[in-house]
Amino acid sequence: MLLVPSLVLIVLLGFWIRLARTRRSRLPLPPGPQPRWITGNFKDIPSVKPWVTYAQWSKQYDSELLFVTSLGENILIINGLASAIEILERHAHNFIDRPDITMFRLMNWDWNFGLIPYSKRWAQQRRISQNNLRKGNVMKYEGIQAAKIQSFLRSLLEDPEQFEMHIQLLTSGLAMATIYGHDIKSMDDPYVVLAEQSMTMMSAAAFPGAFLVNTFPILRFLPAWFPGTKFKNFANRCRVLTTRVRNEPIANLKQRVMEGTALPCIAVKLLEEHVTKNDAESGEETIKDVTGTLYAAIHTAFYCLASHPEVVRRARAEIHHVLGTGRLPSLSDRPLLPFLEAIYREVMRFYPILPLSVPRAALHDDVVGGYFIPKGTVVWTNIWAMTHDPNVYEDPDEFRPERFLNPDGSLNNDDKVLAFGFGRRICVGRHLADSAVWLTIAAVIATFDFYPARGESGEEIPIKTEYTDGMVW
Ligand code: HEM
Repeated sequence: MLLVPSLVLIVLLGFWIRLARTRRSRLPLPPGPQPRWITGNFKDIPSVKPWVTYAQWSKQYDSELLFVTSLGENILIINGLASAIEILERHAHNFIDRPDITMFRLMNWDWNFGLIPYSKRWAQQRRISQNNLRKGNVMKYEGIQAAKIQSFLRSLLEDPEQFEMHIQLLTSGLAMATIYGHDIKSMDDPYVVLAEQSMTMMSAAAFPGAFLVNTFPILRFLPAWFPGTKFKNFANRCRVLTTRVRNEPIANLKQRVMEGTALPCIAVKLLEEHVTKNDAESGEETIKDVTGTLYAAIHTAFYCLASHPEVVRRARAEIHHVLGTGRLPSLSDRPLLPFLEAIYREVMRFYPILPLSVPRAALHDDVVGGYFIPKGTVVWTNIWAMTHDPNVYEDPDEFRPERFLNPDGSLNNDDKVLAFGFGRRICVGRHLADSAVWLTIAAVIATFDFYPARGESGEEIPIKTEYTDGMVW
């Protein structure tokens, strides 16, 4: 009987503690919908495609910056490129933090340096990953990527209707091969199953309002039998998976190193450099992004190309004109193929895979554009709003690679891929992702046609776009 009132009491206590920590300033906060008493904007924050609603609010309040509160948590949403650069690049020292999401800790994701708050451990792991994934180093993995892409093309040829499964196998295969030198043959591979399941749970747990315990960490102390503590069960299930994701592939690789059968890959390089256990984990960390985000990027490319056969034909003509028909494009051909490059940029613009990026947090109180941003404010970067800004990209909902070309067919200077984020926590795997996505698009365009499927009476079946609503789209 007393359980529900005590739960309410705990929540209220957490709320007041949070409110008391929010410093006040004479400067205004950025605009946003009027918060309600206690709950703030909890009810206003959408759970379906929030990036679209935030872009609409941005217009409504005539401000790139929006400020909302949810049960006492302060949230800043950046909706424009100029503000993103001001905050995440010019004020990078302050907005380098990530919010401490309680569910990540409970789910045992807190060894993942992409998700942890600013710390020495983050800096050390970021440095190691950055060194290994630098543009020059990534070129060394072109051979591995090309081999995977070739077997993907063979699977497409043999069984085109299963294209989704082939993409999944390709992206997981690229990740496993580049990082662990592990050759996966099917999506039933135990490492792939582990990575996919734990990532899906991670993406679902990150969003504002996903779990009350993210807002009120005090709830984590409640016993598992207490009403409203389903999050514990969810976290425990994920914990088992993340622990295995973290340990098993490295253990397997070490075995292969000892047997002398390990293939060249990032993790072997780390092991050879006698890095500490923590450093080796930075290799594992990349699994999450590689399988999830590369999968989404290449999937997006397929959707765009299938809906635009004329774009495929033009790009193929370009490839055949420049390289002939005897081989697949390689990274060294990239500067010679501007239309293909424009397709790559348009794919990355059309569906940024992390539409609200990965949340940041303010280390200290700050002032940006005359607005006060309190310490601890969680920052969501609305990348989707920036890549769909009609003032920058005319008819932004149309897939039109030509927007990246000058009238003479050369590439214009809009070459910053916003989908990778900004500043000092910009995507560390962007060069690897960039080359893998480009090589795949190039190989598939050079060899295949794309059409929507046809029904029994020959009519085209419209292609559905169904993306999930978690942190990773
Ligand atoms: C098309 C594919 C990809 C996209 C669109 C993408 C996008 C992003 C974005 C938006 C962020 C957050 C940046 C910020 O806070 O401003 C991020 C972070 C990160 N990405 Fe990626 N990513 C992709 C592929 C990859 C790959 C292949 C890897 C690994 C090899 C990777 C590893 C990471 C890591 C480790 C972080 C966290 C960095 C940190 O917190 O210091 N990503 N990514």
